[in-house]
Amino acid sequence: MYLCNPNNPTGLIVTKDEVKQLLDGLPSGMPVLIDEAYHHFVDDPNYATSVPYVIEGRPVIIARTFSKIAALAGMRLGYAVASTENIQKMRPYSMGSINALVKWGGVASLKDTASQIDVKRKTIELRKKTASELEAHGYSVIPSETNFFMVSIGREIQPVIEEFRQKKVMVGRPFPPMTTHMRVSVGTAEEMDRFMKAFKEIFPAKTRTTAAI
Ligand SMILES: Cc1ncc(COP(=O)(O)O)c(C=O)c1O
Repeated sequence: MYLCNPNNPTGLIVTKDEVKQLLDGLPSGMPVLIDEAYHHFVDDPNYATSVPYVIEGRPVIIARTFSKIAALAGMRLGYAVASTENIQKMRPYSMGSINALVKWGGVASLKDTASQIDVKRKTIELRKKTASELEAHGYSVIPSETNFFMVSIGREIQPVIEEFRQKKVMVGRPFPPMTTHMRVSVGTAEEMDRFMKAFKEIFPAKTRTTAAI
C-alpha cells in the first residue's frame, strides 16, 4: 500500500487518526510505504508523522526527501525509515551511491534547524495569504498543508499555463483528472505578489455565490 501524506498534488493531509484506522485495518504484514516529502510544511495538529509505527514494529516504510524544505532537489538525496529487514529487501533496488558533496550538504541541512523553521514559517504565511486573496477574488482553494496549493479555476488548465507564462509566471503542469485546478508552488513574497497580479489579470473577480467549487 502507498500513502502520500501530505498528498501531492492536492496538498491535503490524512489525519493521524485516519492513518491509524488505515494501518489497523490492513492484513498483518502488508508493507505500507508512506511518502512524507511534504511533512515539514504541516501546520494542522491533526497530522502526525508515521515514523512511530516503524519503531513500534509495523511493516511501515517512511520516505523523506531533501528536495523540499531543504531546497536541495538538484542533489538527488532522500532517505527511508524502515525496519532493518525491509531496508535489506529494498537495498538491491538502490539506484547507486551519493557523492561526498551531497552527503555533507544533507548533514548540514539536517543541522540547520533554524533555516527549516524559517522556511516553514514563511511558506505557511504566504500559503495562507495567497489562498485568502484567491478566495476573496472568488476562487476556492483546496486547504493545503504543503509548499503548494490547488486553486479551482473553473476551466481547463492547459491554455492557462501559457497565459501565465506570457506574463513570466510559471504555474504547475496539469494533474489529470483535476484539469480545472491549477497547482501553485509557494515562492517568495515578491513571487506570490507577481502571481496574484497575473491571476487577477487572467481571471475576473467572481462573487462568492458564483465561485467555482
Ligand atoms: C510526493 C513526493 N514524493 C517524493 C518526491 C521526491 O522528490 P525527489 O525525487 O526530488 O527526492 C516528490 C517531489 O516532487 C514528491 O512530490
